[in-house]
Amino acid sequence: MAGTDTVHSDTLKGIICYYSGSGNTRLACQYIASNIKNVEFKLHNIVKEGVPDLAPYDIVGFACFTDFIEPPYLIQAHLHKIKRQDDKLAFVFNTYGFINGKTRVTLAKWARERGFKVMAGHSLHTPESYPPMIAGGRGNEQAPNEKELKAFNRFIEDLDRSCGLLGSGKNIRIKTRVADMLLGLVPVFSRTRSKNEMGIKYVDTGLCKECRTCEKLCPYEAIKLAPKPVFDMNRCYGCWSCYNHCPNKAIYTKKYRGAGQYPKPIEQLKNKLKV
Ligand SMILES: Cc1cc2nc3c(=O)[nH]c(=O)nc-3n(C[C@H](O)[C@H](O)[C@H](O)COP(=O)(O)O)c2cc1C
Repeated sequence: MAGTDTVHSDTLKGIICYYSGSGNTRLACQYIASNIKNVEFKLHNIVKEGVPDLAPYDIVGFACFTDFIEPPYLIQAHLHKIKRQDDKLAFVFNTYGFINGKTRVTLAKWARERGFKVMAGHSLHTPESYPPMIAGGRGNEQAPNEKELKAFNRFIEDLDRSCGLLGSGKNIRIKTRVADMLLGLVPVFSRTRSKNEMGIKYVDTGLCKECRTCEKLCPYEAIKLAPKPVFDMNRCYGCWSCYNHCPNKAIYTKKYRGAGQYPKPIEQLKNKLKV
């Protein structure tokens, strides 16, 4: 990345509260944190570790992936638990595999509703983690392309510069994109869409080794082993975490079996977002 502004002796403290299903978003957050010089950022998995105490931080980042052209339901559930802030500075960030939709705009809206002042936002095109897309040959393994990576780096530089101004006590200008304002008017997808698309899940009992990976990683606590995985469809949101992470590819649906799993960031992405 190109050079950044001076580091303040009194470095600002920041926290990035993220939700990452298969690691792309986490990797991108690590990249942001390691390329920002004016803020010392800590990464916090808000879904796993719950809402942190935000008092010690000057700036908060909210990051997630696109889940049916919106932020995942879970990030909303956790954001709602944050106590109302008095204009604490925030930025929003998301990764997406194909169509970003309203993700960033909605995330920013939710943060504003909790009293944050959203100073910046960015959406990064990454490889797909949605198995039906990968199985259909649209894994977008090449994403982000050179232009998208440059735009990401520019976002980080701008954010760093703004944080530098913050550290020096100067006012920062908050830009609102016209496209974002228009996207805000688009209606929200039903939260049951993803679950219905995935449908009923089955277990290949011959392949399942009862390792509990699905149970441990299900963010909605919808799986219990008895002794093979049993799915509570009232809790399931169709996030494909069980399908993506099963080391034995034992979980399948009516349409997809043994294909399109994305358990962790692929090497191409890791190489582009080296920290
Ligand atoms: C259930 C599910 C739904 C998704 N929906 C979308 C979508 O609507 N648009 C899109 O561009 N990508 C979508 N994706 C792809 C992810 O947003 C993308 O691959 C992201 O980088 C994954 O981040 P993560 O590895 O941090 O979970 C979806 C992925 C999953 C698992």
